[in-house]
Amino acid sequence: MQIVVGAQWGDEGKGKIVDFLADQAEWIVRYQGGNNAGHTVIIGNETFKLHLVPSGICRGKKSVLGNGVVVNPVALMLELKSLHERGIETKGKFFVSDRAHLILERHIQQDLSQESHRSQKVGTTGKGIGPTYMAKIERSGLRAGAWRTGGLSPEETTAMEFLSPYLADTVILLHEALEAGEGILLEGAQGTFLDVDHGTYPFVTSSNCSSGGACTGSGLPPTAVKTVTGILKAYTTRVGNGPFPTELIDSVGQHLQTQGHEFGTTTGRIRRCGWLDLVMAKHARRINGITEWAITKLDVLSGLSELKVCTGYRYQGKELKAYPAETAWLDDIEPIYKRFPGWEGDLSRIQNYADLPEEARSYLKFIEDYTGVPNRFVSVGPERNQTIVR
Ligand code: GDP
Ligand code: IMO
Ligand code: MG
Repeated sequence: MQIVVGAQWGDEGKGKIVDFLADQAEWIVRYQGGNNAGHTVIIGNETFKLHLVPSGICRGKKSVLGNGVVVNPVALMLELKSLHERGIETKGKFFVSDRAHLILERHIQQDLSQESHRSQKVGTTGKGIGPTYMAKIERSGLRAGAWRTGGLSPEETTAMEFLSPYLADTVILLHEALEAGEGILLEGAQGTFLDVDHGTYPFVTSSNCSSGGACTGSGLPPTAVKTVTGILKAYTTRVGNGPFPTELIDSVGQHLQTQGHEFGTTTGRIRRCGWLDLVMAKHARRINGITEWAITKLDVLSGLSELKVCTGYRYQGKELKAYPAETAWLDDIEPIYKRFPGWEGDLSRIQNYADLPEEARSYLKFIEDYTGVPNRFVSVGPERNQTIVR
């Protein structure tokens, strides 16, 4: 069993890497979040923008929305219909946990209204995520399996009628798969620093995106986990509000934004961009138990004369020993940078690690040395085959 988890603030390229890794697994499972996520998978000249359905569906693998996911029935129905139109089969291949909570219109309205009344705006995606998890934790939520008792609107009712053949006790399904020795890949949404416990609270999402959430959100046990793959973008991005110590608001930030096409998949907002922050990466390693990195979007760094990587945080003149719990401190952090020479040229056709420019290899080696985690995969483009495996 393998968990794939974002090591930053989301949009690290989880969709691409999950699609790549899905080849090796029979089951792909989402364990938290909802259609606030946006995972882009590019296969040949086809682009899939998935919000709820796990990225493995494009490989014809069995896909599950686990009990920890919050499901907007109308959005899910539309996503499935658009997959069907593109010839992707979901019957007998896609399952929604009957324990998953439903996002209803009232939760969306509550999300929008809470945001408008907040003095410090989180910048939510407006998809009703927070209020749905609030109702779940408060024990007044509506589980998918009980949808007939929920007083749904006609539109929601139509969607649930469409979805009802997909409802299943996915905990049992997944345990049977585990006992049969089938490969299971757990696909995280968002990222470690958007985790409601470990992220930059209150500028976070309302679920446990980190690897711990994979067990509670699927019913699979921690003892079955063999590998935790951390997805680390070669630089940092963030959508929405909240602190961002290595943010760049200059021409380098502009380079990352344009070369990396850093626009939100769900809301179309411009993603804020900055240097790679290894203080975050090291903390993500600890929280998630990351055993290997998939470094993504290395190609985007080509053409910058110098690169910087954050290796420490200075706060009020003192270097911090670890990632701070006090989110407000992060606004006043002075990042400590290590500089690297940049490189020129297009990396997107490179298939072997050894063929990467020497400067790029030094950059990658430093990530490994600093975090103590090997770079198992290096992604040099959005397509499935633009992935270097070591
Ligand atoms: P996710 O939310 O973590 O799945 O990431 P998104 O799909 O929201 O954002 C990542 C974006 O970068 C998508 O548009 C991907 O197609 C693209 N992408 C993924 N890996 C690479 C890469 O190595 N290089 C480049 N240039 N683009 C990539
Ligand atoms: P993927 O899976 C990046 C951010 C929002 C906002 C905060 C709370 O594509 O990486 P929410 O609507 O969840 O209550 O918003 O979380 N956010 C994401 N940022 N990628 C995502 O998903 C995100 N999902 C939520 O921008 O700051
Ligand atoms: Mg995304």
